[in-house]
Amino acid sequence: MGNNQGPVLLAVESLRKFFGEVRAANDISLEIAQGQVLTLVGANGAGKSTFLNMLIGLVRPDRGEIRLEGKRITGLPPEQRAKMGIVKTFQLEHVFDDMTVFDNVRTACLSVAGKHYVMFKDVSTEREINERTQHILELFDLARVCQTLVRNLGHGYKKVIDIAMSFAMKPKILLVDEPTSGVGEEEKYRIMELMMNQIRANNLAAIIVEHDLNLVKDIAKETIVMHEGEFIARGAPEEVFSQDKVVEVLVGRGF
Ligand SMILES: Nc1ncnc2c1ncn2[C@@H]1O[C@H](COP(=O)(O)OP(=O)(O)OP(=O)(O)O)[C@@H](O)[C@H]1O
Ligand SMILES: [Mg+2]
Repeated sequence: MGNNQGPVLLAVESLRKFFGEVRAANDISLEIAQGQVLTLVGANGAGKSTFLNMLIGLVRPDRGEIRLEGKRITGLPPEQRAKMGIVKTFQLEHVFDDMTVFDNVRTACLSVAGKHYVMFKDVSTEREINERTQHILELFDLARVCQTLVRNLGHGYKKVIDIAMSFAMKPKILLVDEPTSGVGEEEKYRIMELMMNQIRANNLAAIIVEHDLNLVKDIAKETIVMHEGEFIARGAPEEVFSQDKVVEVLVGRGF
């Protein structure tokens, strides 16, 4: 697949997942280069989340192969894939309400350093972890609230913390499933901008599932439309969203 963004990072070949009669993924193939950002759109039930979950190892495909930097990762558990650089935002389930923002992000920094939430004998390691945590908080504009308990913050903040924690995992490719769902219009743009700035600054590849087509037009040069487990269109959002077959599956389903 032609692009000028560097070598292929992720290669997906004929990935299939059927749930009984439901074709959630029907022989999907895709290549993503380092630094390449794609958005993925499609009606409810199109298979977007299933696709991302197969990539990170939460859903096992019926057939097909997934390679990261040429290495076959198809059968590997999620933790191992994350270490290799394929990370999905946690959908809030790893953000702890009763911890401060700092301690949440620190947990992710510890995890990527292979440490657990314990006292360190080694003071310099602890300092390194704390400095990295602070740095990430600043990148995501969270330093002001770093000592606040997450439960005292709004939903939008939790989304940003979730994204910051995913970044702390040092991904090469970031998978993001509806980063702005349940967030107000204005905050949506703020969250997306914080995330996109860091994706670009670190030259990460990304697949971002997003329902808001106006937002999709703003953030990425390239979008893929998914329908019944297949990629039915790919290209510049403006162009893709005007194709008849795309209008039919998106507009016809309440977009
Ligand atoms: N564990 C499962 N068992 C049975 N069917 C499933 C399972 N997971 C997903 N499906 C079905 O597979 C299809 C694709 O689901 P998926 O969640 O991937 O869609 P989606 O595009 O993410 O939708 P949404 O926009 O609503 O999040 C749907 O018909 C869904 O009901
Ligand atoms: Mg979904």
